Amino acid sequence: MVNDPAESFDRSALAYEELVALNRAGSRRLIAALPDGEYRRVLDVGCGTGFATMQAVARGGVTEVIGVDPSQPMLDVFAGHLSGHPGVTADLRATDAEHTGAADDWADLALSTMALHWMPERPAAIREMARALRPGGVLGILAPGEAHDRPTVDIIRATGDAQMARLADSIVSNEIPVAWLTAALRDAGLEPVDVWAETRERVVPPDALADRMDAVATHLWADLPDEDQRDVLARVRALFRGAAGPDGMYRYRFVKTFAVAVKPG
Ligand SMILES: C[S@@+](CC[C@H](N)C(=O)[O-])C[C@H]1O[C@@H](n2cnc3c(N)ncnc32)[C@H](O)[C@@H]1O
Repeated sequence: MVNDPAESFDRSALAYEELVALNRAGSRRLIAALPDGEYRRVLDVGCGTGFATMQAVARGGVTEVIGVDPSQPMLDVFAGHLSGHPGVTADLRATDAEHTGAADDWADLALSTMALHWMPERPAAIREMARALRPGGVLGILAPGEAHDRPTVDIIRATGDAQMARLADSIVSNEIPVAWLTAALRDAGLEPVDVWAETRERVVPPDALADRMDAVATHLWADLPDEDQRDVLARVRALFRGAAGPDGMYRYRFVKTFAVAVKPG
């Protein structure tokens, strides 16, 4: 498929964990926010390299994992992490969020971290996780939040560059507002326990943000010739460098939406 988000992750699987290390911190906060309880069976949708599941494993009690992600290279990295945990049985499936293959009422915990925004049918993905949860099971979601990274959107749009505008449009369309997610959880038959947003000001070397875009956003230009793809990524990098402050650092605003919900028992 042209412009399939999973393609970016196929390309970047090995570098992914370094480049988006802050996703791991978000997963840690999500897992820390789960209600007390035993989560033995974990379904991780858009699991990537398994940040969220590995946090749940570290919390303790996980015995079975189904990980679902269309990117096989991401699943391969995840399998490597799980290999250090012989007490955990894993079934990692190269498929999309709407076809997890998990049995009805299978999961004690369903997770989706920094992936819902890439799924073409977000409500259907949430309904699929709700279906796979057992009554009393818990859903945890982490996603980009409302008005995420607007300073970057603004400087990209100000250039008038049509190809770079695809990145700005993608940042905006990836937003998952708290109110939308709360309603979608209810529509899927779940009871929201807590849905909230966190805003953080990030100060980073401009190349670090450009490297991050190279890891997660290359699919936006997948329909262009290779040379044009390289050119637009180079323009994005130059733009971030030019927008750095006198200290050489780039400032942006990172907003994340978190949700914890329960399937009624
Ligand atoms: C930013 S990564 C997040 C991975 C991981 N959950 C984490 O927290 O680091 C987004 C993941 O969503 C996956 N993805 C893209 N489209 C998807 C879809 N339709 N269904 C399920 N996963 C999808 C990508 O392949 C990628 O691994």
